[in-house]
Amino acid sequence: MKILVTGGLGFIGSHTVVELQNEGFEVIIVDDLSNTSLKVLDGIDAITGKIPAFEKLDLRDKDKVQDFFKRHHDISGVIHFAASKAVGESVENPLLYYENNINALVYVLKELQKMTEANFIFSSSCTVYGQAEKMPITEDASIQIAMSPYGNTKQIGEEIITDVAKVSNINAILLRYFNPIGAHPSAEIGELPIGVPQNLVPFITQTGFGLRKELSVYGDDYRTPDGTAVRDYIHVVDLAKAHVIALQRLLNKKNVAKVETFNLGTGTGSSVLEVIKAFEKVSEQKLPYKIVTRREGDVTSAYANTYKANTVLGWKAQSTLEEAIASAWKWEQKVRKAK
Ligand code: WQD
Repeated sequence: MKILVTGGLGFIGSHTVVELQNEGFEVIIVDDLSNTSLKVLDGIDAITGKIPAFEKLDLRDKDKVQDFFKRHHDISGVIHFAASKAVGESVENPLLYYENNINALVYVLKELQKMTEANFIFSSSCTVYGQAEKMPITEDASIQIAMSPYGNTKQIGEEIITDVAKVSNINAILLRYFNPIGAHPSAEIGELPIGVPQNLVPFITQTGFGLRKELSVYGDDYRTPDGTAVRDYIHVVDLAKAHVIALQRLLNKKNVAKVETFNLGTGTGSSVLEVIKAFEKVSEQKLPYKIVTRREGDVTSAYANTYKANTVLGWKAQSTLEEAIASAWKWEQKVRKAK
């Protein structure tokens, strides 16, 4: 069965391609290579023994999207990762985000609407919940006004899919990721942030490797047990496996509604200081850090209630925080030594 993975050479996309191939799916990747490289295909090959089909494609080009689907009318499911994801950049350049994340989505859905039946999985984010009133966060928690254009594209994306599914043959699953971290345990694929990492774990591993002087911890005056902000860090391989299970749910028509939503997290909240401690343990070294003021737009706490994902989807995160950080550290060391 042929599955289209848009953004399949990116961080979460590439790990999902691995899990799809491990389960015997035939994968075709489209990616515009704006935030990744063709080398990722070799990593996927090294792990699975198979290079997936690949086409360089910019999904903002409506005609090219149309042409792609004309040539590939036998696609059974689409997992749509292709999007820009830097919160700060989205504030600086909102139209880039609306064009990349919304236009591309609309053009793909337009083609799927022409099919007699279509299965679609969307990368959403816990950012839609903002600062939720209750922890852990359930899927029916209210959607808050987005803090950034990036967050807004995820909310609008969910709404577009929901509207289109109502009047078409599209069945969709919206997956709200908490904080994806880590790398494949083989260290053949992982996260490759361009420039200074904005996310915590890549910043920590780069600092551990000596590429950065010290980590700035954004605030220790939050109302949390140790004062630093709390997040739900989930191993990217666990996250990737959830996509395969969600896809199988759609293919086997197990979905009970045209659009279903699941939180993907571990259910455990970890503070910034706990993440630092976990890194220090797995790397057997001290991490230089200093406490600075809060980062604008950060919420105090966000971790998932995983009941629905566990019971309805039938998926549960397996890896611990330490395992996830150990895999990120192994990957960082491998990438740097290769340079
Ligand atoms: C985690 C914690 C920071 C860097 C973002 C997006 C979200 C999602 C995942 C993705 C926070 C603290 C960080 C640093 C720090 N989407 N921190 N020093 O902000 O929870 O979520 O990524 O595509 O939509 O908003 O993740 O990794 O940036 O931060 O102290 O140098 O680490 O304040 O508490 P965040 P993060």
